[in-house]
Amino acid sequence: MIISLIAAFTINYVIGRKNIIPWYFSWDMMWFKYHTMYKPVIMGRKTFESMNSKPLPYRLNIVLSKHHILYNNKIHNIFIACNPIQALSVVQKNDEVMIIGGGLVYNAFMSQCTRMYLTKIDVVYNYGDSWFPSYNPNEWCVVYNTNKKCVINTGYTYNLNFQILDRT
Ligand SMILES: NC(=O)c1ccc[n+]([C@@H]2O[C@H](COP(=O)([O-])OP(=O)(O)OC[C@H]3O[C@@H](n4cnc5c(N)ncnc54)[C@H](OP(=O)(O)O)[C@@H]3O)[C@@H](O)[C@H]2O)c1
Repeated sequence: MIISLIAAFTINYVIGRKNIIPWYFSWDMMWFKYHTMYKPVIMGRKTFESMNSKPLPYRLNIVLSKHHILYNNKIHNIFIACNPIQALSVVQKNDEVMIIGGGLVYNAFMSQCTRMYLTKIDVVYNYGDSWFPSYNPNEWCVVYNTNKKCVINTGYTYNLNFQILDRT
């Protein structure tokens, strides 16, 4: 099974602030949807709560939490796993599992993931409080690479670089 990380981050590796993603780019939402749809997704409890504790539709949602008793799987239609091994055991028959964040969960899976879907935003953001882990580019081969210019409602244009990397 391919273990894949999917993340969007700034030049200084920021992924979030105060448990939200501090930007909205429709191109990035489409990229995320396209690459996660119908695949199992693993996320941290805080990321799950940042989505109003609602599972992503058409995807098996696995939430990592050491306090799984707080949640009722039936209400949320999700699986609560208390560690990464248990989370992976749920999806082992799938071709690919998508690790969708946040920072603690990316860290937990970075050493064992073999693919990354990255959106790099060409801005330094100084107010973040969660980050994508650093990785050694020499250990990765870029198999897909494209740029998009995204205009947000203030009129400011950002460059987004979409990459898929496979571990060499
Ligand atoms: N830019 C992006 O692509 C992106 C994507 C996703 C999220 N985000 C952002 O990332 C931020 C959240 O990241 P975060 O690092 O604060 O939190 P997180 O990784 O989403 O969740 C952390 C929680 O997950 C559980 N957890 C993590 N690792 C675990 C392990 N090894 N075993 C068992 N449970 C584990 C723990 O829950 P318990 O405390 O319940 O035990 C932990 O407190 C938010 O701002 C969110 O918007 C950004």
